[in-house]
Amino acid sequence: MPAVVEAENLVKSYPGKVTLYNFSLTINEGEIFGLLGPNGAGKSTFIRILTGLEEADSGRIALFGGAPSRENRKKIGVAPQDNAVYPLLTCMENLLYFGSLYGVGGKKAKEKAEKLLVDLELSEKKNVQAGFLSGGMKRRLNLACALMHTPKLIILDEPTTGLDPSTRRKMWKTATEIVRESGATLLLTTHYMEEAEALCGRIAFINAGQVVAEGSPEELKRMAGREMAKVKSLPGEYAKLEPLLKGVNGVENVTVTEHGVVVESENIASKVGEITRIFGKSREKIIELSVSKPSLEDVFLKLTGAQLKEGVKVEPKK
Ligand SMILES: Nc1ncnc2c1ncn2[C@@H]1O[C@H](COP(=O)(O)OP(=O)(O)OP(=O)(O)O)[C@@H](O)[C@H]1O
Ligand SMILES: [Mg+2]
Repeated sequence: MPAVVEAENLVKSYPGKVTLYNFSLTINEGEIFGLLGPNGAGKSTFIRILTGLEEADSGRIALFGGAPSRENRKKIGVAPQDNAVYPLLTCMENLLYFGSLYGVGGKKAKEKAEKLLVDLELSEKKNVQAGFLSGGMKRRLNLACALMHTPKLIILDEPTTGLDPSTRRKMWKTATEIVRESGATLLLTTHYMEEAEALCGRIAFINAGQVVAEGSPEELKRMAGREMAKVKSLPGEYAKLEPLLKGVNGVENVTVTEHGVVVESENIASKVGEITRIFGKSREKIIELSVSKPSLEDVFLKLTGAQLKEGVKVEPKK
């Protein structure tokens, strides 16, 4: 699959601070790619560099397999973290204005705007000034504006921050449908781990201006450890159970603790039946059974330590 974005060793510093440091990332065509990281990690800075709002101090960027030229950047649609809509213009006027910036005008622009208003459930607000919309509606309009020119790369910087759970889910649905229908590539940033997991095929964790891990949600979760079942039983003669549990195909580790026995496996759900049978056959009565899987949050904490850091602090040059 061809790369839509290739960033290699980007460095960006502001006075007293290195915000991106040897930042490298590849995003392939048709992917939904998530950037996750704490406040100040450098996500929006990377987006500003990608879209040409700022320049990196050093490093290389390729867009759609070529240089980050004006032509190539026109194929990007970005919904920035801070809404870019004009408060005095109505929803329709905002959409037509953003369309015109990218050369979409006339009947085509009107049709596209009408469709986006329906998709993002803003039809009723078509002739209302953006300044009078609720926060969630402004967020949706911000997204619609980014889509007027049917971009090949859609960039959404925290599209769902501040939205209620049901609106958030609708936003996910709309975003994935748009990507599927148009064959676009989607890059998004979010602080919601469940959102990243539901939407993204691949995720990069950013910390202190660097990519610290990259992979599918499943791959990343595996980094945090295996899935496990904790079982407590009576009379609790776990030493006898240990070799039997270790003999189950796919079980990778068994640990006896003072609270019971912990069984680890890559896919613990498929082993629970056999585990409980072993307890039954050994005349052990299960009084507690819990299954846990590592979450994306576990991975993040494991990779970065308990402290989530902003960009690297450096002494200002004298
Ligand atoms: N124009 C600027 N001048 C000085 N410092 C800046 C500038 N833009 C960004 N920074 C700093 O760079 C760091 C990274 O900011 P950035 O907005 O990229 O973070 P982020 O990962 O998007 O965070 P958030 O999750 O809070 O949106 C921050 O410490 C920020 O203060
Ligand atoms: Mg940001």
